[in-house]
Amino acid sequence: MLNALSKAQLPRHVAIIMDGNGRWARKRHLPREAGHVAGVAAVREVVRAAVDLGLENLTLFAFSSENWKRPKTEIGALMALFRAFFRSDMDELVAKGARVRIIGHRGRVAGDIQAMIEDAETRTAGNKGLNLTFAFDYGGQEEITNAARELARAAAEGRLDPETITTELFAARLFTSALPEPDLVIRTSGEHRLSNFLLWQSAYAELLFVETLWPDFGREALTQALHSFAARERRFGALNSDAVA
Ligand code: FPP
Repeated sequence: MLNALSKAQLPRHVAIIMDGNGRWARKRHLPREAGHVAGVAAVREVVRAAVDLGLENLTLFAFSSENWKRPKTEIGALMALFRAFFRSDMDELVAKGARVRIIGHRGRVAGDIQAMIEDAETRTAGNKGLNLTFAFDYGGQEEITNAARELARAAAEGRLDPETITTELFAARLFTSALPEPDLVIRTSGEHRLSNFLLWQSAYAELLFVETLWPDFGREALTQALHSFAARERRFGALNSDAVA
């Protein structure tokens, strides 16, 4: 049993690359889709735990812009799960005061999902609890490229002096402009990659790679991850206090 963490020890923003659904299913001789179904149950448990722990921001990588390369049947299953999740869980999220956002391309997903996303964001826009963000059809390089293109266009049209471009101005053009940068990025399933997730935003994030496959990641695993974070020393490029003294 782990001790409760104080608010000051908690990361303000936890972002998770939910990996390993396919391997979880294969180990059980089940189709990959069954792994994604179990993955949704893990999403539900982790979101509930985040609310109970008082986390401010949780961002989950639900579908990457590269995931379109998967077989049509698997993409269809993931889209169906996304629809089902929003239908079944929105009332609970509203009741818990969560503010839901979706970051990603949007234009490429089916019209009914786009409408669902807009509805979820509108319904929860005034909520002050957990900021729950799903990265959906999201790619970090594409996000950065889009921001650069927007700034370049503004400069070309004479609306922006290139000399005034700062990191803050750039960050304001990203999907995550309303959120603090992640303090902790977790990837499950033993892979040590960022896979195009929050590339700009993770500049100073603590990275935590755990062996657990996503469907087995729950309340306890999240709590353990938060304890690992609390034990780390963050320097943001500076020296630690011992070295300065
Ligand atoms: C990676 O596992 C996971 C994904 C590509 C999608 C994540 C989706 C979910 C957890 C379910 C849907 C989410 C919501 C919010 C409804 P993988 O298939 O790459 O696993 P593998 O590497 O073992 O094959």
